[in-house]
Amino acid sequence: MFSIFLLLLPLLALAKENLHSPPSGYKTPTAPPHHTIPTIFLAGDSKMAPGGGGNGTEGWGQYLHYSFNNETAYINNSAIAGRSARSYTREGRFQYIAQALRPGDWVVIEFGTNDGGSPYPASKDNGRADCPGYGTETCPTVYDNATEIVQTYVTYLKNATSIFLSKGAKVILSSPTPNNPWEFGNYSYAPTNFTYFSWLSAQEMGGPAAGVYFVPHSQYTTQMMYNLGISIDKYFPLDHGHTAPYLASLVAQEFVLGLKCGSAPLQDLVVNATSRIESALLGTCVSVNATLPI
Ligand SMILES: *[C@@H]1O[C@H](CO)[C@@H](O)[C@H](O)[C@H]1NC(C)=O
Ligand SMILES: *[C@@H]1O[C@H](CO)[C@@H](O)[C@H](O)[C@H]1NC(C)=O
Ligand SMILES: *[C@@H]1O[C@H](CO)[C@@H](O)[C@H](O)[C@H]1NC(C)=O
Ligand SMILES: *[C@@H]1O[C@H](CO)[C@@H](O)[C@H](O)[C@H]1NC(C)=O
Ligand SMILES: *[C@@H]1O[C@H](CO)[C@@H](O)[C@H](O)[C@H]1NC(C)=O
Ligand SMILES: *[C@@H]1O[C@H](CO)[C@@H](O)[C@H](O)[C@H]1NC(C)=O
Ligand SMILES: *[C@@H]1O[C@H](CO)[C@@H](O)[C@H](O)[C@H]1NC(C)=O
Ligand SMILES: *[C@@H]1O[C@H](CO)[C@@H](O)[C@H](O)[C@H]1NC(C)=O
Ligand SMILES: *[C@@H]1O[C@H](CO)[C@@H](O)[C@H](O)[C@H]1NC(C)=O
Repeated sequence: MFSIFLLLLPLLALAKENLHSPPSGYKTPTAPPHHTIPTIFLAGDSKMAPGGGGNGTEGWGQYLHYSFNNETAYINNSAIAGRSARSYTREGRFQYIAQALRPGDWVVIEFGTNDGGSPYPASKDNGRADCPGYGTETCPTVYDNATEIVQTYVTYLKNATSIFLSKGAKVILSSPTPNNPWEFGNYSYAPTNFTYFSWLSAQEMGGPAAGVYFVPHSQYTTQMMYNLGISIDKYFPLDHGHTAPYLASLVAQEFVLGLKCGSAPLQDLVVNATSRIESALLGTCVSVNATLPI
């Protein structure tokens, strides 16, 4: 109802203008930004990105639009293969999103696959490893001939989140999806530190009261990966991390299930009913703060 009214507004204004031509010398007031539906920006790595990790794999962000109505939300998949919270920051990519977003938009941030390790020793720094820890620790280094004060994963997420909040957006911090948990012939999964760190970042930013939500995408995705069984191997055609389109679409559905089971108002724009999302394959709602390490 509301969005249809917004869509009609320019037409109504146009009709009025035609009826009453403005007097000469009248300056048309600057139009408000054309923004009738929210954009959902996606920031992440190859597990989310267009084209996934290459060679026919896909990122889950490419399948998110199936669960939204294209007249109520637009999805901008700004995830890039190979990136970590650190390199996404250094390359100015959070900044690009901040420049493009408008009040009422959403940003989903999901990193962790490329964030592991340490910037030290400098000779082994790949430009992606965050400073170890989950506080305000810093790791001064020189990368690509430039001085870089490497921050923790938590600092990068919180910094980007506060910029998006200040621009009137809401933010979803989503924990990283696992690699193939059947890789060694039996099911084995343990959450990485980044699963906990993404929750912690949401918590420290003030959580839902501040417009910052957490989706335990790691836990949701493992339900489905467990249910698929060993036959999941064929949906990891390249390596243990990058998903074939079918699996990527299931990973997207798990994000939506997590969204519907949580409290972010973005769930109101999802076209599917919760009862239709929960299934023998996707699993059910999981409790948000449970099963976190350290
Ligand atoms: C991926 O594709 C490239 C060419 O597009 C090819 O050289 C490479 O061997 C492929 N890698 C795998 C693991 O299939
Ligand atoms: C929106 O979705 C409808 C139904 O799937 C489709 O027909 C239409 O082309 C889409 N519009 C845009 C702008 O993508
Ligand atoms: C905070 O984010 C902005 C925008 O992405 C970036 O320019 C700045 O370097 C970041 N600060 C830290 C400490 O990472
Ligand atoms: C998508 O987001 C990027 C920022 O990551 C922005 O530069 C670009 O213009 C956006 N594209 C569309 C079509 O909205
Ligand atoms: C996980 O985080 C804890 C606390 O910062 C740290 O002691 C541990 O080394 C980390 N583990 C890995 C694998 O990074
Ligand atoms: C970094 O500096 C070294 C010399 O100290 C130079 O050989 C190299 O080309 C520089 N790399 C870049 C990316 O500028
Ligand atoms: C899975 O298989 C590997 C290799 O055979 C073995 O080392 C590991 O203990 C097994 N894990 C479980 C949970 O059974
Ligand atoms: C974690 O759980 C607590 C208690 O249920 C809740 O108040 C808080 O909002 C949750 N944090 C996030 C980030 O969802
Ligand atoms: C929602 O329904 C659409 C079809 O209408 C489907 O493509 C999509 O995967 C569904 N999403 C979830 C999360 O089940």
